[in-house]
Amino acid sequence: MRIIDQRALPEAEITRDLESAESVADAIRTLQVRGAPLIGIAAAMGLVAAMRDDRALARATFLGRLNQRATLLGAARPTAVNLRWALERMLTTAAATAGEGSNLWERLHVEATSIWEEDRAMCRRIGEYGLSILSDGANVLTHCNTGALATGGIGTALAPIYLAHEQGRRLHVYIDETRPLLQGSRLTAWELMHAGIACTLITDATAASLMRQAKVDTVLVGADRICANGDFANKIGTYGLAVLARHHGVPFYCAAPWSTVDASLAEGDLIPIEQRAPSEVTAMAGRPIAPDGAAALNPAFDVTPSRYVTAFITDRGIVQPPFRS
Ligand code: MRU
Repeated sequence: MRIIDQRALPEAEITRDLESAESVADAIRTLQVRGAPLIGIAAAMGLVAAMRDDRALARATFLGRLNQRATLLGAARPTAVNLRWALERMLTTAAATAGEGSNLWERLHVEATSIWEEDRAMCRRIGEYGLSILSDGANVLTHCNTGALATGGIGTALAPIYLAHEQGRRLHVYIDETRPLLQGSRLTAWELMHAGIACTLITDATAASLMRQAKVDTVLVGADRICANGDFANKIGTYGLAVLARHHGVPFYCAAPWSTVDASLAEGDLIPIEQRAPSEVTAMAGRPIAPDGAAALNPAFDVTPSRYVTAFITDRGIVQPPFRS
């Protein structure tokens, strides 16, 4: 499985070939591949790569190894439900396929490819539905990275932006740098600049002031998990944007494929929130930015209550909760 190591962007475009479940799990854990839809696709493809040398195994042994590897991959990151969704789909497919290891492997290869292709199509549909919320000349504020680097296609929250730009609408995007790992400045700015879309980087703390000055027309973000009642988890800082948007009367949209909906969870407090290493806060690019030994808290995601969301832009249309899977 070939990936772009997103840790190195925008400085360098490094590709890596991964062949084992351990290396794919490590790539997901360390954010070499990241973004909710993409980690689902990577896990599915990773299973195919990891099982390649086990094709000659008898059915029961093949299934046993497949389960072990799916468990390993599934534990790599806890918040984005797309990871579990893709792995469950792979396991269900294997169990429902007749024959020995080689048949199962071929079928898994087809399934992983479908997961990717379906995601690409879902991104496109999100983009098409989302076009209606972006008028010519709009100033859009986004957070983290929700584009081609986070999905199998043109992205979730960035998809309507790409399509509006393609249609000749003049948009301008404010990009939150997205502390602490800077997915906004490193990845979203890289993507939008490549696409020729007008954009301006801001520190996360600047959003409030821009909204007070009426410089933001719409906030558009992605999601890692959406509950039945519409509460959703997304990159830390999203909740703050939602509260600010409500205070300033700015519409706040969440864009996601249906694979991000987890209707088994009634509400946002039930979403597992990934806690990452304090060193991601106390150091930057390997250099300390806090006193040695400083305590730091580093939740990777927060939960935005559904009442702050103007609407959800999905591949099934612009919708409101409650959701069923
Ligand atoms: O920690 P990350 O970079 O994987 O977090 C990604 C996000 O929070 C995105 O907004 C979300 O996954 C939606 S991606 C289309």
